[in-house]
Amino acid sequence: MKQRLDKILSGTGLVTRSGAKDALKAGRVKINGIPARDGAAKVDPDTDTITLDGQPISAGRVVLLLNKPEGYVTSTQDPRDRTVMELIPGQYRNRVSPVGRLDKMTEGLLLFTDDGDLLHRLISPKKQVPKVYYARHEGQAGEDDVEAFASGLTLADGTVCLPAVLRPLGAGESLITVCEGKYHQVRRMMASRRMTVTYLERRQEGKLTLGNLPRGECRLLTEEECRELLEDL
Ligand code: URA
Repeated sequence: MKQRLDKILSGTGLVTRSGAKDALKAGRVKINGIPARDGAAKVDPDTDTITLDGQPISAGRVVLLLNKPEGYVTSTQDPRDRTVMELIPGQYRNRVSPVGRLDKMTEGLLLFTDDGDLLHRLISPKKQVPKVYYARHEGQAGEDDVEAFASGLTLADGTVCLPAVLRPLGAGESLITVCEGKYHQVRRMMASRRMTVTYLERRQEGKLTLGNLPRGECRLLTEEECRELLEDL
């Protein structure tokens, strides 16, 4: 739906109403790459790309997809380690929270949002979307392991997991699909079948994939992608 550009800008919280006026006057705002100086211009934030100082802005809910590198902890602050928040562009850093978590050594797809409802729906144990992991591991997954995953594994501490899909790719490599997010879940599932994980990457969540997003970078999800994500919940 089309809205006034100055309203969209001040609605993001990045600038005040008068700050929006100044930014427009100074040519710091672009619509689809073209400088926009008229605050009254009608723009559709779902289809037009609006940038402020070269950074895309989002008028409504913000959902970011990060390709997390290893070595970053999923938390907002940490006394020792670098946190995933350091990889979030400054204008969103204080606005979004991680959706679930990836271990320090796990790489790949991690979502962030400022939409509390979406966040809770995505991490709710009742409604989790399937998540696909690529693992390199010791040993070789066999038919008995595939069946054990499919019938719901019991971990070393007695935790019972929902049925999951194990797809052996070759010697020491597998894809694992799980619909829940227990602590160190994939590593513990694999360990329960004597396959210690040596490398783990989340590749997919629902229909969302990493695509060609470089490691360490993040991008905004489109409204269409957000809608698709919500359909799965
Ligand atoms: N399972 C794990 O063991 N670690 C992760 O980071 C995610 C899923």
